Amino acid sequence: MKGVIFNATQEAVIELFDEDTWDDLLDAAGVDGVYSSVGTYEDADLVAIVVAATKATGLTADEVMVAVGRKALNHLANRVPTLVGECTSAYEMLGMIHDVIHVEVMKLYEDAQPPQFSYSDLPGGGLRMGYRSPRNLDALAEGLVYGVGDRFGEELQVTRHPATSDGEVFIDVVSLGAANAA
Ligand code: HEM
Repeated sequence: MKGVIFNATQEAVIELFDEDTWDDLLDAAGVDGVYSSVGTYEDADLVAIVVAATKATGLTADEVMVAVGRKALNHLANRVPTLVGECTSAYEMLGMIHDVIHVEVMKLYEDAQPPQFSYSDLPGGGLRMGYRSPRNLDALAEGLVYGVGDRFGEELQVTRHPATSDGEVFIDVVSLGAANAA
């Protein structure tokens, strides 16, 4: 996993808690925590940090990943400001992840292996994203989707389905409009 994901995770944890919490998680996870954005590190380090966070917070690993992803989105988006600056809605940005944003990520970060996303329209309106990755970080993906909603001030209804028999996880996204609408 590229260091930039660890950097965004660190920034998310500090935003949700504080610097000391991040240091405590690194100690508990038994990792040194030095991640250069362009470096590549063991996926197991991220798992160890998440496990440490479950013990510290009482949340499940799934809940930790969603919470971290939600806050981490902005930190990732800030790495590709020009692309993201062109988006005007959550649907538009979500639709750009696979063919535009993650393609750019592969140019910026050597050896990056972002997940695969497919897209289709939901019958009643909305976007269905199909997530595939050997890393099985679909909970992180759900959190990032919520983060996209936050970025545009939109309330999103996000439904993540159990993996299909061939390993695809559908994430259904319906925008309910402005987050503070009555
Ligand atoms: C605009 C900002 C984004 C940037 C710059 C970005 C960048 C990246 C990078 C660098 C990786 C690591 C790849 C590797 O380690 O080899 C990654 C992985 C990932 N990205 Fe994105 N991403 C962005 C938005 C999103 C969004 C909105 C989603 C959610 C739908 C998403 C879903 C994921 C997931 C779940 C992974 C973890 C790897 C995996 O599941 O296999 N990304 N992204």
